[in-house]
Amino acid sequence: MPTLRARFSSGLSSISEAFGFGFNVYESPNVFLETLHLAERMSLMNNLVSCLTLVGCLVFPSGPVVAQVAPLIANISARQTTSLDGQWQAIVDPYDVGALDYRAQPLKNHQGFYKNYKPQSELELVEYDFDSSGQLHVPGDWNTQRESLLFYEGSVWYKRSFDYAKSPKNRLFLHFGACNYLAAVYLNGEELGEHEGGFTPFDFEITDRVRAHGNFLVLRINNSRGKDQVPTINTDWWNYGGITRPVTLVDVPETFVQDYFVQLEKGSTRQIKGWLQLNGPRLQQNVTIRIPEAGLSKTFQTDSKGHTEFAFSSDLTLWSPENPKLYSVEIASETDQLEDRIGFRSIEVRGTDILLNGKPLFLRGISIHEEAPLRSGRAWSEDDARTLLSWAKELGCNFVRLAHYPHNEAMLRMADLMGVLVWGEVPVYWTIRWENPSTLHNAENQLNEMIARDHNRAALIIYSVANETPINDARNRFLRQLIQDAHSADSTRLVSAALQAHEVTDRNRITIHIDDPIGSDLDVLGNNEYIGWYVRRPSDADSIDWVSEYDKPLIMSEFGGDALFGYHGDVLTRWTEEYQENLYEHQIVMLKRIPFLRGMTPWILKDFRSPRRTLPRIEDYFNRKGLVSDHGEKKKAFFVLQRFYRELQIAQPLN
Ligand code: GCU
Repeated sequence: MPTLRARFSSGLSSISEAFGFGFNVYESPNVFLETLHLAERMSLMNNLVSCLTLVGCLVFPSGPVVAQVAPLIANISARQTTSLDGQWQAIVDPYDVGALDYRAQPLKNHQGFYKNYKPQSELELVEYDFDSSGQLHVPGDWNTQRESLLFYEGSVWYKRSFDYAKSPKNRLFLHFGACNYLAAVYLNGEELGEHEGGFTPFDFEITDRVRAHGNFLVLRINNSRGKDQVPTINTDWWNYGGITRPVTLVDVPETFVQDYFVQLEKGSTRQIKGWLQLNGPRLQQNVTIRIPEAGLSKTFQTDSKGHTEFAFSSDLTLWSPENPKLYSVEIASETDQLEDRIGFRSIEVRGTDILLNGKPLFLRGISIHEEAPLRSGRAWSEDDARTLLSWAKELGCNFVRLAHYPHNEAMLRMADLMGVLVWGEVPVYWTIRWENPSTLHNAENQLNEMIARDHNRAALIIYSVANETPINDARNRFLRQLIQDAHSADSTRLVSAALQAHEVTDRNRITIHIDDPIGSDLDVLGNNEYIGWYVRRPSDADSIDWVSEYDKPLIMSEFGGDALFGYHGDVLTRWTEEYQENLYEHQIVMLKRIPFLRGMTPWILKDFRSPRRTLPRIEDYFNRKGLVSDHGEKKKAFFVLQRFYRELQIAQPLN
C-alpha cells in the first residue's frame, strides 16, 4: 500500500478519498476552487492545511516514515553489478520548487523535476534542465565539491541516465550505500520510494521498470535537520549532504539468496550457527554452505518462506587482531550462489572482562569520524578506510569506535582484513525526541539496517545504541527498546552506549560514579569524560577515582582536548600541542587506576569539520581534538598514546 505521504502528494482529489469527506468530487481540484470566492478559498485552504497537519501529526507525529521498498540485499560486491558512480547532473533547489508548487502542494505535472521533462516547443514553459545544470560526483558529499555548498542544507536533485540490457529471467535492484538524509527516488518519471537516515544502505526493485535504453534515475536528497529526526538538529559533526556512498545496479536470479548469517554461536569457538533467506518464487530449495579451506560442506532445506536455520561444528582458525584470518565461504542455492570472506571469532563478557575467543582482552582504541583522511569531506572508499585504519594501527590500536553513525561498508570490510575490532553506532546523539514513536521507528530502522549490512563482519563486536543522552524515563524506554532490538537481531555481539558518569566530591576526594540506569541493560559500559578540557585541569585526573554500579567492563569511549597542529606553548596554554600532550599523560595515569577498565577510544584520530567550532585561526569550523591534523600531521599527543599502547601490548592484560 502506498504511504499516506505518497497518497497526499497525489493532489487534492485524494483528500476526499483519504478521508471520505462528504465533498462532491469535482472533475479537478482547480474547478472546485474556482467556484469559491477568495475569502472562502483562503479559509478552506487554512482548514485543509490545519486538518492536514492534524492528521499528519496523528499518523506521522514527526514527518516522513521510512519506506523501504525492497528487503536489504546482503553482500552487494559479490553479486553481478553495474556501478552508476561518476558525474551526475545536479540541481540545487533550496525552495523545493522541483517538488512543490507555490502553494507548497506536491507537483504532479511535468514541472516536477523527477519528470526530467524537456520543452516540446519554443513556447512551452519549463524552468529546469538537468542536462545544462552543473554536475556533482557520486559518491560524495556536495558540501566539499563546491565552495557555495559548504554550509548548504536543503534539497539537491540528482539525475543519472543509463541503458541496461537485463537478461529476461533475472531481477534488477537499485542499491544505495547511503544518502544523507532523506532520499526520494524516481525512475523514468515514476516514484520508487523514500529512505530516511543518512548512514545505512537501501535498495529498490526495478525489474519491471527498467528499459533497455534511456533510463533516467532522479533523486531528491534533502539534508535539512529536524527535531524529530535521527540525528536531531544539533550535532558536533558536519551535516554533509548528498549521495555519499556508491550506487549500484544489482542483477540477480529470479529467486536469489537475499541475506545470510554465518557466525560462531554465542560463547562457542567451534559451533557455527546461522540462517539464510531466499527471495523469489522458488522459496523451498536445497542450500549449501561451503568452507572449502576447512573441508566443510553442509546442505539444508529452506522452508515455505525461503528461510532456514542451521548449526554445525567446525574446527577453524579463529579471527583475531593478531591473526585476522578470513575464510572464503560459498553460499549456494539451486538458483543462486555467492562467496563472502568471513572471519570466525567469539566475543563475550564475563564480569568486568571482555573475552575474545575465550581470552581476556584490552581494547586499545581510538574514535574516528567518517571523514576522508587527506581530502575533506565524507570518506567512502577502500583507500580512505585503509589509510584511517593504518593510522590507528600505527598508534598501536586493536580497536576503533566508528562514531557516531554507521560508517561505510568498505571500512568494516577493511577492519576485517586488517584485524581491527570495531564499535559500531547509530546516531541517537544528545537530545533526541524520545517521546515520538516515529523517531523510535526511525532509530530502530537505522539499527536494523546497520546490523543487516554488517552482521557477517568478524571485526564488528559492539553495537552502540546512543551517545551522551540525558537520563529520563522516556529516554530509558527508548534506549531499552533499541538494546532489545539489537540483541534479538544478533545475539552474538555485545551492546553498549556512550554514557556520562557524574562526579561526587567528598572532602576533596573526587569520585566519578557510573550509575546510569541504562547500565543494567548493557553488556559493556561506555563513558565519555573530558577531565582537563571541559571540566577541571589535566593534572586533576591523577587523583580521581572511578566506581561503577555494575559488575561490567568499561570502555572509556571519549576523552581528550583540542590542539592546533604546530601551535606550541606551555602545558597550560589551551590549543597548544603541549596542552593536549599533557592532558593525555594525566589521563593515562587515571585510566590505569580504574579496575574495571577494559578499553578506551580517545576522542579522536583526526581533526574533523564541525559547524559548532567557530574560533578563528584555531578551529575555523574544525574540532581540533584529533591526534592527527586534517592534513595528516601527527601531534605530540599521538606519540603519548602510541607509547602507552606499546606498553600495553607488552604487559597485557592491563589488570
Ligand atoms: C562529545 C561528543 C562528540 C564531540 C565531543 C567534543 O562528547 O560525543 O561528538 O565531538 O564531545 O566536544 O569534542
